Amino acid sequence: MAEQESMSYDDVVTGRRSIRGYKPDPVPREVMEEIVGLAVRAPSSYNSQPWHLHIASGEVLDRIRWDSTERTLSGVRPSFERQETGSAYEGEHRRRQIEVAVQLFESMGIVRDDKEGRDNWTMRGFRIFDAPVLVVVTYDRQLHGGDIAPFDCGALATSLVNAAWSRGVGSVINSQGVMHSPVVREHLNIPEDQVILISIAMGYPDDSFPANAVVSRRRSVPEVANFIGFD
Ligand SMILES: Cc1cc2nc3c(=O)[nH]c(=O)nc-3n(C[C@H](O)[C@H](O)[C@H](O)COP(=O)(O)O)c2cc1C
Repeated sequence: MAEQESMSYDDVVTGRRSIRGYKPDPVPREVMEEIVGLAVRAPSSYNSQPWHLHIASGEVLDRIRWDSTERTLSGVRPSFERQETGSAYEGEHRRRQIEVAVQLFESMGIVRDDKEGRDNWTMRGFRIFDAPVLVVVTYDRQLHGGDIAPFDCGALATSLVNAAWSRGVGSVINSQGVMHSPVVREHLNIPEDQVILISIAMGYPDDSFPANAVVSRRRSVPEVANFIGFD
């Protein structure tokens, strides 16, 4: 990979967006090690660092894609290990979910009644977006049930995607990659004392893939933050 000038923090956080179409080029192990080395500077509760990363490429990743796709097509119900909320998003959360989905579908030219287009889009997620790298984030099972270990892993995941972007590597945090957690556990030989939480697809962005240009919206500072005692 060519030496690239280091990006400012602002350029990383404002420029990063989820990447769902990748060049086939592999990401060298040294680049992944550098990204992970930066990412693990993330804060965690009492510096407990409850996380583990299982990073797959090549044939093993292809086997995960294949098995997840096959299970999905044959109607096997998704099985997460993490605790789900148990209910679908409603209200403003649902509205934001739909908003970004509309942005993505519009960019790809997938219209409302294009069932095949939508199905293909969904299956792309189960193929880990055809990315050359899959990162599976797990945490120590002895911490299962509390909010803090998943919180810490979220901090690590954000740190990872930003570190990757700063090195020219795109990514998308995604649930689809671990929706068939038994497949991931088996192929990556994940020990039973770890809980599979989330996955992140990574690779060099394919700039010709339309959805990669989508910039998702954010609530404004006054909508998000309640300032008290400043004036
Ligand atoms: C916990 C989590 C799960 C996600 N799952 C998926 C997924 O299954 N499929 C997908 O295409 N994107 C997924 N995303 C990506 C979000 O859609 C994306 O981060 C959000 O729309 C904001 O867009 P941006 O990352 O481009 O800023 C997920 C993100 C997070 C943090």
